[in-house]
Amino acid sequence: MGNCFRIRIKAVSPSHTGVNSKYVSRDGNDLSSSSSKASFTSIPPTPRSEGEILQASNLKSFSFADLRTATRNFRPDSVLGEGGFGSVFKGWIDENTFTATRPGTGIVIAVKRLNQESFQGHREWLAEVNYLGQLYHPNLVKLIGYCLEDEHRLLVYEFMSRGSLENHLFRRGSYFQPLSWNLRMKVALGAAKGLAFLHSAETQVIYRDFKTSNILLDSSYNAKLSDFGLAKDGPTGDKSHVSTWVMGTYGYAAPEYLATGHLTARSDIYSFGVVLLEMFSGRRAVDKNRPAGEHNLVEWAKPYLTNKRKVLRFLDSRLEDQYTQGVALKAANLALQCLSVDPKFRPTMDEVVAALEQLQDSKENTKTNQNDRNPNHHHVHSSTGTRNHRRRGVDEASTRKVASYPRPSANPLYT
Ligand SMILES: Nc1ncnc2c1ncn2[C@@H]1O[C@H](COP(=O)(O)OP(=O)(O)OP(=O)(O)O)[C@@H](O)[C@H]1O
Ligand SMILES: [Mg+2]
Repeated sequence: MGNCFRIRIKAVSPSHTGVNSKYVSRDGNDLSSSSSKASFTSIPPTPRSEGEILQASNLKSFSFADLRTATRNFRPDSVLGEGGFGSVFKGWIDENTFTATRPGTGIVIAVKRLNQESFQGHREWLAEVNYLGQLYHPNLVKLIGYCLEDEHRLLVYEFMSRGSLENHLFRRGSYFQPLSWNLRMKVALGAAKGLAFLHSAETQVIYRDFKTSNILLDSSYNAKLSDFGLAKDGPTGDKSHVSTWVMGTYGYAAPEYLATGHLTARSDIYSFGVVLLEMFSGRRAVDKNRPAGEHNLVEWAKPYLTNKRKVLRFLDSRLEDQYTQGVALKAANLALQCLSVDPKFRPTMDEVVAALEQLQDSKENTKTNQNDRNPNHHHVHSSTGTRNHRRRGVDEASTRKVASYPRPSANPLYT
């Protein structure tokens, strides 16, 4: 969803985006023959050419005509949201044949259509196909297929019936009621597991665009990461970082990455800390509409987080009485660690997952939540474990059933 501060930061040095990064160093040397390549175990080495990426992806290749029909000619009233890449439309396809069906029949999909004039669009499109075509995890959104035809570039995803976390935190309206503390913790844990999977030894991917609009929610508030256009393979061998253009979103990028273009998994952890602050405070990472001194959430929040007496004043007032002081302090402390200026002091994502799990299980965290709309779903099912992943095949997507979605009155699209 367009927010004028969510623009790509682009500075520092020319280099390469996710697609070929495993093979090319910042100075252009081909690294593909180095022994470090073998560090990828369960995921095959990143393919190099567009043809290889598309072939290796296990995704359905849609025709443009298919997707035009599935979205009823990209009708404006089926727009789910808009981002820097283009618009996202709601559509319907047959669950077995993947051909377009009448609205309301078959499975619901979200179709992202690249704006023709989108800067860097094709590269991001290809990076998305590359990563989401190979990676499968309960906390990553499922990419069902793509369309590459003439100048058309589209991506077809599973439909996430509750939309983005951004909408739930910052949109006002009868559909987007404030999320309860427990649901915020559940979403934080789900997103953390997705990021932990990306950072795991088997996968070693740096996500680079962690923010609330890229965390999508299903009908039970399970969080799934979307948007791998900026993702990059992590450093290999004895390298400590990957050198890149500085790309990302204002307010979320780690200070050392902004300053040097040196990207590590720890940059994602800083972004995770920013998202935790947004979830706890209900404030945006950058908000120029707030009084001077409060525009940047991290700068504004830090003095509150480091002071035990003040920390409760930092929390979203809509959450009153839903958490205990002990849990709030621990959560604030976790965010503070993720936001350490020195990346060495940030926890790993596995440590973040463990800390969030502990917070959820904490006996202190027993206050009831009047606002929870899915009381049966507050615990996170063990199937969302960080190691539960594999390469996916088209069959999985085709056998997936769409749950019966609630029918909110104010936003008929999210049904
Ligand atoms: N699979 C999906 N199911 C349901 N809604 C979706 C899906 N994918 C995207 N959306 C909606 O479309 C919006 C736009 O998504 P998109 O990823 O294009 O942009 P963004 O994340 O808001 O911004 P940016 O371009 O900076 O990443 C999302 O915020 C979300 O509300
Ligand atoms: Mg996005």
